[in-house]
Amino acid sequence: MSPGMPTPGTPKRPGLSRPGLRRKSPDMLIAESGGDLEGHGLRRTMGLFQLVCFGVGAIVGTGIFVGLSDTVAEAGPAVVISFVLAAITCIFTAFSFAELGSAIPVSGSSYSFAYAALGERTAFLVGWCLMLEYGVSVSAVAVGWSQYVNELLNSLIGWQLPAAVSAGPGDGGVINLPAIVVIAMAATLLVRGVRESANATAAMAVLKIGILLAFCAIAFTAYQDDNLVPFAGHGLGGITAGASLAFFSYIGFDAITTAGEEVKNPRRSIPIAILICIGVVTLLYCAVALSAIGALGADAVSDKPAALSLVVNQVTDSSVGGGIIAFGAVVAIASVVLAVMYGQTRILMSMSRDGLIPRVFERVSPKTHTPVVNTWIVACVFAVPAAFASLDVVVNLTTIGTLATMVAVNVAVVVLRRRNPELERTFRVPLYPVSPVLGVVFCLYLMYGTGWTTWLQFAVFLVAGSLLYTFYGRKRSRLVSSPGTDPAGTVSPEA
Ligand code: ALA
Repeated sequence: MSPGMPTPGTPKRPGLSRPGLRRKSPDMLIAESGGDLEGHGLRRTMGLFQLVCFGVGAIVGTGIFVGLSDTVAEAGPAVVISFVLAAITCIFTAFSFAELGSAIPVSGSSYSFAYAALGERTAFLVGWCLMLEYGVSVSAVAVGWSQYVNELLNSLIGWQLPAAVSAGPGDGGVINLPAIVVIAMAATLLVRGVRESANATAAMAVLKIGILLAFCAIAFTAYQDDNLVPFAGHGLGGITAGASLAFFSYIGFDAITTAGEEVKNPRRSIPIAILICIGVVTLLYCAVALSAIGALGADAVSDKPAALSLVVNQVTDSSVGGGIIAFGAVVAIASVVLAVMYGQTRILMSMSRDGLIPRVFERVSPKTHTPVVNTWIVACVFAVPAAFASLDVVVNLTTIGTLATMVAVNVAVVVLRRRNPELERTFRVPLYPVSPVLGVVFCLYLMYGTGWTTWLQFAVFLVAGSLLYTFYGRKRSRLVSSPGTDPAGTVSPEA
């Protein structure tokens, strides 16, 4: 008998099979994705190296190139501790992602995991929050890209786009046209096919690691110990506030799990790729922060636009190096838009297959093997906040939404260990249950640090999602009339 099959004679426990609590068995999720075979017309083309590059491509972007100066302003030289704290939060959760990704290697990320462990309503809300992590993040990153495009234009030709057409009303402009352009470019690449998009992302990831390493090499030539003193002048509060800000620079590592259906040997590759990505990125961020502050001191880096270009220009006493960094930032941030938009389209595909959102999102073009209409809807919808919202608002919403989904992922590990102990897990979280519990604690702590305005916006967003599930998803769910629901509300593949 497969996990989740009805046990003959088991009495029905009232309440547990209510629509919002029905769950899919892990076997069902895997069977739906085609098991180890081709799934839903998507091709298995990505190996470990491509996957790591894909992850780094999704992670490194606006956070380090644009956000570093704000994080330094909060924490001072102790920003390296903030990065490590944010990384620890991610690592606990990454362990959970890795375990779940190795057990249920399907597209859909935390949404699918929540569907298996926490029930349909929670899964819907997790999918809904993923629109903050992926969709709104596309908008946030595109706004950051726009800033660096202007920086690049400035260093190349000494001219930049007027604020009216390069920033939204919240940032002193009218409409952010470059942000719309980068979203349209990413959508065009994505609809042309996974292989090409993943390769483009991989190439950009290698390039941006190279640019950040080059930055460190230049900045370390001017390094002085004195510039790190006082090390933690803003105290523990500064370090903590810095950690909440630094967290944005790590968002995206879980995008790897959204590629489950397009990865060769996903059970092995997904956990390894996630851990490699977090390790590489943490070392890189700490090196960038230490070298920048070591070269000029924390005050010279704090709250400065294009701080990395500024450091290189001052250290080399020329504007050429800064221009190259600006070029790297433009490329790096564009690749984040690409990877994150990819993740959003795959999550919507999963939700659409389940009937929770309209079927148009699951349609795959027979010609390109990509969800063309889905991709363009995502591009159009998230171009709106990119064009008109201020960076602060979209960054904070992205952060709180991401942390909320990560809470669900950590809880899902514990629930599935208890409910499906027999599930094959090629990766298991170390120190269970300490790791997922600490994952929840760290996520809640960083969520707390985002501030009450963001909490209010998040609450409104959650209520809207809950209403959408109640009046649309719950009735149209493809699990509604399934005869295979067991007493605990789980639906098996054989149902
Ligand atoms: N981690 C991503 C970035 O920093 C969201 O741009």
